[in-house]
Amino acid sequence: MKICCIGAGYVGGPTMAVIALKCPSIEVVVVDVSAKRITAWNSDQLPIYEPGLYDIIKQCRGRNLLFSTDMEKHISESDIIFISVNTPTKTSGLGAGKAADLTYWESAARTIADASKSDKIVVEKSTVPVRTAESLKRILTHNSKGINHEILSNPEFLAEGQAIQDLLKPDRVLIGGFETPQGRKAVQVLRDVYAHWVPEDRIIIANLWSAELSKLVANAFLAQRISSVNAISALCEATGADVSQVAYAVGKDSRIGPMFLNASIGFGGSSFKKDILNLVYICECNGLAEVADYWKLVVKINDYQKNRFVERVISSMFNTVAGKRIAVLGFACKKDTGDTRETPAIDVCKGLLEEKATLSIYDPQVTKEQIQHDLAMNNSDLNHSNYLQLTNPATIKQVGKASNAYEAAKGAHAVCILTEWDEFRKLDYQKIYESMQKPAFFFDGRNVVDPHKLRAIGFVVYSIGKPLMHG
Ligand code: UDX
Ligand code: ADP
Repeated sequence: MKICCIGAGYVGGPTMAVIALKCPSIEVVVVDVSAKRITAWNSDQLPIYEPGLYDIIKQCRGRNLLFSTDMEKHISESDIIFISVNTPTKTSGLGAGKAADLTYWESAARTIADASKSDKIVVEKSTVPVRTAESLKRILTHNSKGINHEILSNPEFLAEGQAIQDLLKPDRVLIGGFETPQGRKAVQVLRDVYAHWVPEDRIIIANLWSAELSKLVANAFLAQRISSVNAISALCEATGADVSQVAYAVGKDSRIGPMFLNASIGFGGSSFKKDILNLVYICECNGLAEVADYWKLVVKINDYQKNRFVERVISSMFNTVAGKRIAVLGFACKKDTGDTRETPAIDVCKGLLEEKATLSIYDPQVTKEQIQHDLAMNNSDLNHSNYLQLTNPATIKQVGKASNAYEAAKGAHAVCILTEWDEFRKLDYQKIYESMQKPAFFFDGRNVVDPHKLRAIGFVVYSIGKPLMHG
């Protein structure tokens, strides 16, 4: 059997690597339109950072795992084709700002139609709007030259930074197919692939629309928990309660559970906002205005939380940050990834830059170029404005990781933690305090540090959802 995956990104790359690892008898090829991406996958500098991924790639690459730009050849030779291309939110036209942009996805579907010379199972891996399979079927049927394409939905639930663990031990694998004899047969073929390592009771079979919708709903529920706890964090600050204690007590209820109750500066990542907006759009298209409004609020609270953080920094620092140097520790949307898509750090940094602060940013995995791109600053802005001073991870790597944060904090008026990297828990905050301007402000957007310990050193500390004590 041969599997081809279109799209060598955060989902396609790790997912196919694990399939290749667990199914040595299957040949797995990942194809992409971007030659640069494919070259990176074939090198020692993979295009994405994911703990454990490189080891698997080293084991399988060249054995039964291939990365290639020859889409036509590998599609035509494969039995199963995964579509794992990006589906960002539309920026213009009908549904702009909410609906999923299916341009890349449609182009992938057309490539399959053109390249196929025999029957195929086509699997939707990217998150897509409900009933996308119907459009996919139409594109493939109209161009099929009599070839049968059986369509399945197999949404990916992996979280970045823990993708390999999620793929090796998934909570569930969801496969949706058409309820026809051919549909059921195709489901069985894909189920057999996963059965190489996933226990039978974790492989769930559903109809196509339920599978597509489940992915959007799972992400909406997860994001909703974060917005719920973040909303309560504002109330905790106003009343003197501690959000970590409240979340712990609430999460002990087995009906609620402890996961995804960490208050933060807001959720980021490629999926949550995009998928909720997509859900909102689908509800609106179906005349369900109240349901759409309900889910919109999850995104609204997320924006509120980011703004609240910026306002807190400014008001604490005597209502102005103009000309003050602020060290930003962490830029990625979460720890253990270099992904900055929708990272709350973008809005927080932009908010501080608008107030004319000087930022010195350090993140163990995000490059200077990426930060520049995300903050839409070009090199001349950087050289001439004095707004942004970046600590280049590539340079710092040579002198050891731990010094990055120290360098960023040296001479700063304030430190803001925006990503919960483990290394920020272990820093010598006494040393950092001594190198900073006084009063030394500390804004912990991820509840990484113990505020009592930092206050004992002399910092003025603000932690999300924790009692405030100035001085
Ligand atoms: C998410 C889903 O978890 C995953 O199942 C789906 O396939 C893709 O979307 P991902 O975005 O990679 O995965 O990471 P996740 O761990 O869910 O975190 C998303 C954002 O929420 C991050 O910015 C994270 O910092 C934030 N978060 C998470 C919180 O602020 N508090 C929490 O308690 C948990
Ligand atoms: P995700 O997080 O969903 O994996 P990424 O943006 O990381 O998204 O990856 C999507 C990949 O899909 C990119 O590498 C992009 O070049 C690729 N891609 C987009 N459209 C096509 C297409 N029509 N054919 C092949 N690859 C595509």
